[in-house]
Amino acid sequence: MKNFIENLPKAELHLHIEGTFEPELMFEIAKRNAIEIPFKSVEEIRNAYQFDCLQDFLDIYYQGAGVLIHEQDFYDLTWSYLQKCADQNVRHTEIMFDPQTHTERGVSFETVINGISKACKDAQEKLGVSSLLIMSYLRHLSEEEAFKTLEQSLPFKHLIKAVGLDSSEKGNPPSKFKKVFEASVKEGYIPLAHAGEEGDADYVWEALDVLKIVRIDHGNNCLQDEELVNEIVKRDMALTVCPLSNTALQVVKDLKDHPLKKMMALGLKATINSDDPAYFGGQVNQNYIDTQAALDLTKDELIELARNSFQYSLLEDGKKTLLLNELEAYAKEN
Ligand code: ADE
Ligand code: ZN
Repeated sequence: MKNFIENLPKAELHLHIEGTFEPELMFEIAKRNAIEIPFKSVEEIRNAYQFDCLQDFLDIYYQGAGVLIHEQDFYDLTWSYLQKCADQNVRHTEIMFDPQTHTERGVSFETVINGISKACKDAQEKLGVSSLLIMSYLRHLSEEEAFKTLEQSLPFKHLIKAVGLDSSEKGNPPSKFKKVFEASVKEGYIPLAHAGEEGDADYVWEALDVLKIVRIDHGNNCLQDEELVNEIVKRDMALTVCPLSNTALQVVKDLKDHPLKKMMALGLKATINSDDPAYFGGQVNQNYIDTQAALDLTKDELIELARNSFQYSLLEDGKKTLLLNELEAYAKEN
């Protein structure tokens, strides 16, 4: 199965670029930027990655991102992730970035987007990995702050496909961002949001009905509400599920208890993703491998998950079809 998963063509649809920051690269960039970090070794950093909840993780994640200053830093971070995509047969990826994590520290929007998008362009040319960018608003900040970010993004609109909503979910419901999502859609961005990771089903309803999202990041807690599940199925919306993130952040106690299989049985369109792989113990293939073992997923179920990853990507139809055909050929041969 390991071999089957490693060679399976797939897309990653839920990935925070700041969450791909491996301790080795963090040290290297901190050193060249002469920034002190409160860890003496890579091992010490990894030992600090024990989380009781989402907020626990976010505190350390924002601290790590604090060493990113120059365009080259953002390029190196993104290039390092895209190389891992190529190694894992991730044929397409939709990368979230959190501009406010950087602009709040005085790094310009332009620096962030140029570094990330140049790496994406190079990955398409040199590695054959395609990518789209999702600009995520931080939900612990105000809607007014999100509006500033939207404004800053406009000169780079051609580089950004969608907007997302991430960071501390509880106490920051989707409705807080109604106006900025409406304005973002007017600018041509596709609306997406984290919902139902720690927040309850009513947050997922709000993300659907108030923000009008087309895909749900996580969505675990939609299972609390049968009517909501039926609505998501009816609207043919996908969930970007992140199994190792869910266990690392105690959303799910044990991978054996993960609701992925239940979601699929209910007709929900699930995908498997890594979320913040440097922090949660595994890239996307490790998420597939561990989840397969814990839930005894069949080859057909793995193919269905990979199929969903292409089908519910934000790619245009022609590109989607090419990747789906590649997957079907692989499924036939294996
Ligand atoms: N930012 C990075 N990872 C996140 C997650 N899993 N949930 C919310 N915000 C995030
Ligand atoms: Zn996430």
